[in-house]
Amino acid sequence: SRPPTLTLLGKEYPTDEKTNITPAIVDKLGRNLYLQPSHPIGILRSLIESHFSNFTAHSGFSPIVTPAKNFDDLGFPADHPGRALSDSYYINNGLMLRTHTSAHEVEVFARGDRRWLLTSDVYRRDEIDSTHYPVFHQMEGARVFSSSQEGIDELEADNARLSEHLAQSNIVIEDVPHSSSTNPIPSVYATDHAERMVRNLKLSLNSLMLALFGGRAGSAEEPLQVRWIEAYFPFTSPSFEVEVFFHGKWIEILGCGLVQQRTMQLANIPHDVSWAFGLGLERIAMILFAIPDIRLFWSTDSRFLEQFTPGNITTFRPYSKYPPSHRDVSFWFPSEGLHDNDVFDLVRDTVGDLAEDVKMIDSFTHPKTQRTSRCYRINYRSMDKYVCKPLILWYIDNPFARSLSGDEVNTLHAGVITRLKEKFGVEIR
Ligand code: PHE
Repeated sequence: SRPPTLTLLGKEYPTDEKTNITPAIVDKLGRNLYLQPSHPIGILRSLIESHFSNFTAHSGFSPIVTPAKNFDDLGFPADHPGRALSDSYYINNGLMLRTHTSAHEVEVFARGDRRWLLTSDVYRRDEIDSTHYPVFHQMEGARVFSSSQEGIDELEADNARLSEHLAQSNIVIEDVPHSSSTNPIPSVYATDHAERMVRNLKLSLNSLMLALFGGRAGSAEEPLQVRWIEAYFPFTSPSFEVEVFFHGKWIEILGCGLVQQRTMQLANIPHDVSWAFGLGLERIAMILFAIPDIRLFWSTDSRFLEQFTPGNITTFRPYSKYPPSHRDVSFWFPSEGLHDNDVFDLVRDTVGDLAEDVKMIDSFTHPKTQRTSRCYRINYRSMDKYVCKPLILWYIDNPFARSLSGDEVNTLHAGVITRLKEKFGVEIR
């Protein structure tokens, strides 16, 4: 029973059979964490903007876009999995929440900006754990060059300047070839020009990595390690991902590449060439500020917010180390099936951020009936004050962070089970 309309950011939208945006997501629209100067996401945004000091910084673009803008204009095929209802949030058949900042590439190029950054909130249906949240932030960046001699001269000068800067630093870069048979240079480029462009992209981003992480992991004892790997995006070629080695793990922090000609044509600049990147701000902020759980970015607890000041990278001091408490739920799947992400969104919507992670721990198909049963394990833990949605079942508002009692966890879990039955008609085992 969906409402006939939804009010989002002060505007009313009709719903239809595609509507799958949930109250927990609606609640996040307009929070604009990236505009808050003392929030880690806002601090990081400013730091990156000052590093790219001669780039125009954009923000404030609405998260509500057409699938054409998010996918078609960027060359995503009709059957791309990202378009599925199980992966993206739709307001209705014609509107969705952007899944990446690349959705705005065409319009910003079309404005004539030659060097630009764009920060915003993006939305993806995903699993629940300490590094995944259905709302997060990206910063897109791009630099346009002319394909004439003037562009070549600009690139050569910039590449010389940047490589000199990087030569003095102690940063260990594991590189990949500028292109390969699986990561080709589009035919519109002269090969040497494309290689200059890729070199400029790599140098520009390596120097950003050094500016962001250099102070911490870039000391003589512990050089910063950056790894470039080949990637694939429908709207760039060649394409790459960059990972940073931190606390014993490789962490993916950005995607990038040379912008496909389709984008340049749609933006009415067919004679120019460009590179572009998209940074994941939460991933970088978690490393820089030592923030252990992605839910904390959405905290309104002063013990979180008061730890940060504009322009400064400071180490987060955890204030809540309550033990998590898990409960399992097993059920037979409805005959029409169910996506893991439907289960995750229902948990989020029922217990809010009290769900720390949710894992499918068992799946089994009955040999005779062919029915499938799955078991999910939900870890409950309070980060700070309770943030249950008032529209759902009950409302607890406890101003003091504390450990969840066994009774409270049971109540939360019972709420999840009730809604699983109501919403999906599952049979609990
Ligand atoms: N939009 C891509 C993503 O979200 C990242 C990207 C941006 C890749 C720009 C290439 C160029 O994964």
